[in-house]
Amino acid sequence: MQFVPSDPAFIADPYPGLAELRESAPVHYDERLDRWLVTRHADVRACLRDRRLGRNFRHVGTEAEFKAEPLDPRWQAFWDVERWSLLFVEPPEHTRIRKLVAAAFTPRAVESMREPAAELAQRLLDECVERGEFDLLYDFAQPFSITLICHLLGVPTDRSRDLLDWSHRHVKMYEFDTSDEQAVSATNAAAEFRDYVLELIEERRAAPRDDVVTGLVEARVDGGKLSDDEIVSTVVVLLNAGHEATVNTLGNGITALMHNRNEWNRLARGEVSAAAAVEELIRFDPPLQLFERWVLEDGVEVAGTPVPRGEVVSMLFGSANRDPRVFPGADELVLDRPNAAEHIGFGGGIHVCIGAPLARIELETSLRAIVERAPELELAAEPERVPAFVIRGYRAVDVVVGGR
Ligand code: HEM
Repeated sequence: MQFVPSDPAFIADPYPGLAELRESAPVHYDERLDRWLVTRHADVRACLRDRRLGRNFRHVGTEAEFKAEPLDPRWQAFWDVERWSLLFVEPPEHTRIRKLVAAAFTPRAVESMREPAAELAQRLLDECVERGEFDLLYDFAQPFSITLICHLLGVPTDRSRDLLDWSHRHVKMYEFDTSDEQAVSATNAAAEFRDYVLELIEERRAAPRDDVVTGLVEARVDGGKLSDDEIVSTVVVLLNAGHEATVNTLGNGITALMHNRNEWNRLARGEVSAAAAVEELIRFDPPLQLFERWVLEDGVEVAGTPVPRGEVVSMLFGSANRDPRVFPGADELVLDRPNAAEHIGFGGGIHVCIGAPLARIELETSLRAIVERAPELELAAEPERVPAFVIRGYRAVDVVVGGR
């Protein structure tokens, strides 16, 4: 079995191919992609927690040692924005910035979003239900998630559609085989996003408020301040990560429920809680399918196979989440699966998703609102996949409210 993340047939349904890979071996060296694919739950989990594996290597070695291409200078504006992203740095930089972000994402601050989330879900759904037919992503999930993350950060919502556009273009750089055209677009988006956040920083510096952006501007760590570059990267990663995966989880999840009407009906009848359903939906068709690490030290073994320093390890989350060793009957959607929350969807180790509690609140409140407000929901047409493997979602999920 070949792992071909750019093949439309593979993207349409990667799970049979991933199962073949997973059942034939826990780790495969993929010659074409020149990386090590890790397929089973226990091994992906172990890799995520292994401190000898890092999201970056530049703090311990050179590109030549790490079989990496130098960062392409044509996309410098993109790299500038990535430079201090939590997803691009390793300790000690990561520890310093993550501590500050965690201080803003307190359980209390996140929990205080539950009511506004429920109200917003109702308001957006009222409009959608009124129309009878709508795109679950464009008309509901995107405005829902971007509004909430903006609210939590203190970013005005008047540029929401720009933020969504910048973000969609930015994240194309995380795929395999990004084209030059996509890279140009991502670089231009990063430059515009950066200018926008720099303006916001100036505004908050002049007139501080009780919000996360002001918190980052005023933060003092280890006797120093965060630089403007560090703040830009942090705000951008929070805004991007703060809606892309949540929106796709809802699109993937509702589509899976429409294909498993019994499970939808059990949810609508209140036999399964929305909170439990969220975990199973993330397990079943995760919005983020692959994350990578560099091997930073000698002597690392993955699933008993030595993997030399400098190599790239690709962790296949969708495969791990369908591992029958952990989830019996893993290809079935079972909303009240007892151990669904053991999924790998939010990662693990030092880079574990900092937004998971917010994502859970968003998904739970929106799922509950949708089943209550539109229990007869149906797909208007079979949705079409975005042609990308890593960030897994649909272009649109057109639905009809039904039962009218
Ligand atoms: C269902 C929705 C979500 C999923 C499935 C998800 C998944 C993930 C995963 C797998 C990682 C770890 C990446 C790695 O180990 O390399 C991660 C990191 C991260 N997520 Fe999420 N995420 C979601 C929602 C959110 C939200 C709502 C936010 C914003 C508040 C957010 C912010 C972040 C940030 C900032 C990181 C980087 C953390 C670090 O490197 O220390 N995510 N997410």
